[in-house]
Amino acid sequence: MNVPYITIEQTGAKMPAIGVGTFGSDHVSSTEMARSVERALKLGYRNIDCARVYDNEKEIGEVLKASGIPREELWITSKLWNDMHGAKNVGISVRETLADLQLDYLDLFLVHWPFPNFHPPKCDVNTRNPDARPYIHEEFMETWRAMEDLVDQGLVRHIGTSNMTKAKLELLLPDCRIRPIANEMELHPCFQQPELLSYVKEEGIIPIGFSPLGSPNRPERDTTETDVVDMEHPAVLAVAKAHKVHPAAICLKWAHANGIVPIPQSTKEKNLKSNLESIMGDPLSLMEVAMLKEADCNNRLIKGQVFLWEEAKDWTELWDEDALIRVPDRYKR
Ligand SMILES: NC(=O)c1ccc[n+]([C@@H]2O[C@H](COP(=O)([O-])OP(=O)(O)OC[C@H]3O[C@@H](n4cnc5c(N)ncnc54)[C@H](OP(=O)(O)O)[C@@H]3O)[C@@H](O)[C@H]2O)c1
Repeated sequence: MNVPYITIEQTGAKMPAIGVGTFGSDHVSSTEMARSVERALKLGYRNIDCARVYDNEKEIGEVLKASGIPREELWITSKLWNDMHGAKNVGISVRETLADLQLDYLDLFLVHWPFPNFHPPKCDVNTRNPDARPYIHEEFMETWRAMEDLVDQGLVRHIGTSNMTKAKLELLLPDCRIRPIANEMELHPCFQQPELLSYVKEEGIIPIGFSPLGSPNRPERDTTETDVVDMEHPAVLAVAKAHKVHPAAICLKWAHANGIVPIPQSTKEKNLKSNLESIMGDPLSLMEVAMLKEADCNNRLIKGQVFLWEEAKDWTELWDEDALIRVPDRYKR
């Protein structure tokens, strides 16, 4: 399939404009996820969104190797988990990922969250780590310098961020030696993040959109009673009817029309196929893009409660909603 590509300004490398997710939301086993990646590769996906914390890189590595697809045809992303921030750990972590994925280099390595805060796998929403900390720029820069070193060493071709806000990127960009080429962020019709999206695009940073379908099977801890269902939103349904497609396809066409690289996840061949096809033809009209703007209700799904530090009043503090990064005195150096 002729999947469109986005050219990376700094290196001329080409990122496929749609990828496949590999987070099993705590209920898809690593073997099942590897089988999904195998199906995705056969269908023509070449952009795979992996992460250390998804605990399935070994199984995915076997699939990549067995596929026989030339390395240069693949775009493989992975992410540094929160327990491996810091100068010493970054190199250790990427080498573990490379060994599991059976690769010599990654196309993109992201800092998964801008905090070194982690939680036990499959934990519930009230789990708090007593060592959790707010974003401390000097500490983040120690991790970022180590990420930059990986590019120098040829272990990764590009580096990027994930779950960063505009306030945090405004600190990182003037201080970095190697710029992030992408920010992976939650993006779907009911959560369009217009200010952050415009900002990253103006800065030449590619927005990679996670949970592009509204993550219908996300973990319990990321589910709130008031959450809106993207694939049932009237504007999405109306456009889907006009195009005679499933609402999932409209979520992905919306992403593509807005310059976002979506990374939908599916275990089903039928869904993997229609997701890939959705960005390859029958685009949304300008009027439909405008109609879908109306679907935005600022409905963040992955709120990140489990990353909160002691003083944080609630999850909104993770996202610098008033453009302020609050660091209580006891964390200052
Ligand atoms: N950077 C981060 O912090 C971060 C956070 C969250 C996610 N991610 C990445 O983003 C990827 C995607 O996000 P996500 O998995 O949360 O959510 P998503 O892609 O929005 O939704 C995935 C769910 O949608 C269903 N689905 C897929 N295609 C469909 C279709 N055509 N019609 C109907 N249902 C369909 C899948 O079920 P079936 O298996 O039944 O098709 C699956 O349960 C993840 O896998 C991960 O790689 C990154």
